[in-house]
Amino acid sequence: MRSIMLFLVLWMASAAYAADDVTLIYSGNLDGELEPCGCSPEGDLGGLLRRATLIDHLRAEAPNLFLISSGGLMSGFAANGRLTNEYILKGFSMLDYDAVGVQWADLTYGPELAALYPLPWVASNWRGEQFAKQESILRGGQQLRFFTWLDAAAAPDKAMQGDHAQVSEDTAALAAALARARGEGALTVLSTTLDLNTAQRRLPLNAVDVLLIRAKYEEYGEPQRHGRTLVLQPGSRGMRLGRVDIQRGSDGIITGWHHEVIAMPATIPDSARLEAWYGEYNSKIKEAYEQSVVLRKAQETGRTPFAGAMECKTCHQAAYDKWSGSRHAQAFSVLEDVNKSFDPSCIQCHTVGFKEAGGFIDINITSHLMNVQCENCHGAAREHAASAGAKPVAKRGLAGPQMCAQCHTQPHSPSFDFSKYWPRIAH
Ligand code: HEC
Ligand code: HEC
Ligand code: HEC
Ligand code: HEC
Repeated sequence: MRSIMLFLVLWMASAAYAADDVTLIYSGNLDGELEPCGCSPEGDLGGLLRRATLIDHLRAEAPNLFLISSGGLMSGFAANGRLTNEYILKGFSMLDYDAVGVQWADLTYGPELAALYPLPWVASNWRGEQFAKQESILRGGQQLRFFTWLDAAAAPDKAMQGDHAQVSEDTAALAAALARARGEGALTVLSTTLDLNTAQRRLPLNAVDVLLIRAKYEEYGEPQRHGRTLVLQPGSRGMRLGRVDIQRGSDGIITGWHHEVIAMPATIPDSARLEAWYGEYNSKIKEAYEQSVVLRKAQETGRTPFAGAMECKTCHQAAYDKWSGSRHAQAFSVLEDVNKSFDPSCIQCHTVGFKEAGGFIDINITSHLMNVQCENCHGAAREHAASAGAKPVAKRGLAGPQMCAQCHTQPHSPSFDFSKYWPRIAH
């Protein structure tokens, strides 16, 4: 409750706007990130639970706002694959977006899956019937028309290009629809994954008021004006929302704007109205994990290349003491603290050998392989230990920075710097 109050106070303090014509809340490229992993405070931004809270606050404050996304909600690399993608679509449909662009990533499981959820998808040059060609929203006396251009050249299925393409490359229909919308006094918004230069070359921008271009990595770009068009660039991975308050002249031309990027750190409370959805998502992950445990247990041969840190202690006391006092030795309990110790997408970096034969399965069968241990960095060492050092460890000679790079990747450890991190665990 206290964090809600704090959040409200902070938010109110920053919201000194004049009565603007149109308020757009925009985003793009969630990229399969249903929630942040929470591995580092710097990267702990975004997630649908916080996004719902923020959107509800923004709507309470400015009921006539338009909420739009350039799409890219899904990703072939999402934490738990199709399950995560489906729950993103489910969760996103509870946010009441006004329009969502279709990107190729949203078709990872085919257009039928995306179209299954009640989202206001728009794909203006899509040849099929699954998605609308445009979305028209009337609110507070303002009309917004949303269009999306899918780049045929970026289609994952090259065999479908040319006459068999799923999308049209002819911009004439789009140009006509934009001009018509403009003629009716609507604010025209076009989203695309093209960069600005390519969009300027290929798309009929003279009837576009607001253009959403290809997202930037994580951070939003600064709005720019080109001719009559206000160009916005969302940030990826769903960490932030953009807000732009637009003033228009009586001829509909944008005369000014105020832009703000709102980050979604952990101080924004999770939305209560998505609680059931999130609980369901986690229980599905847990269920799948428990099934995989049963399967792996049945396949267990009893042979394992891993020994566990206790086995190293007798001969490497100093290294063991250093390790057992480090955060690595606690890496599994932090997953338990955040109620994620059943999520394979987390377990892989917080245990030994989760994706390898003879590695971590679950805390009952393989409790000696919990946490980040010697063998994550040095490789499997059962034979090495049994031979009293005569046989080398599996990853003998692997350079330190390469060991770390297995887990200290940019999304999970954005401040990682070998020269700063290694001294904290050197042995
Ligand atoms: C019974 C004693 C013994 C045990 C148990 C043992 N080691 Fe060793 N270890 C040695 C000896 C001896 C050497 C030096 C071998 C050499 O220099 O060729 C060594 C060297 C190493 C090295 C550095 C040399 C290299 O191969 O790169 C690593 C790393 C290592 N051990 C890891 C482990 C790990 C991890 C475990 C536990 C799974 C472990 N050891 C268990 C005796 C042991
Ligand atoms: C690619 C490897 C990787 C994956 C996958 C991963 N983590 Fe982490 N995690 C790390 C690393 C590395 C750190 C330490 C980051 C640092 O301090 O720079 C960490 C730290 C953490 C911490 C400690 C944060 C703190 O402030 O003490 C938590 C909690 C955590 N991870 C939870 C998760 C959860 C939940 C998931 C799954 C959604 C997950 N991790 C997936 C690598 C990973
Ligand atoms: C996070 C990665 C990591 C973990 C965990 C880790 N080590 Fe190491 N270890 C290293 C690196 C890096 C080096 C230095 C290699 C070098 O100097 O080239 C090293 C060096 C060593 C050496 C050789 C030391 C020397 O003086 O040559 C031994 C032995 C060793 N580790 C044993 C262990 C044991 C036993 C554990 C677990 C109790 C452990 N390590 C845990 C990364 C790790
Ligand atoms: C198997 C995955 C993995 C590997 C490999 C790995 N780490 Fe980590 N590291 C983690 C996780 C997970 C955490 C967070 C543990 C926690 O907070 O409980 C962490 C935390 C740390 C921390 C503590 C950060 C803090 O906030 O104090 C340091 C330092 C660190 N790692 C250094 C290294 C270095 C240096 C290497 C390479 C030599 C390395 N790690 C290799 C997973 C890994």
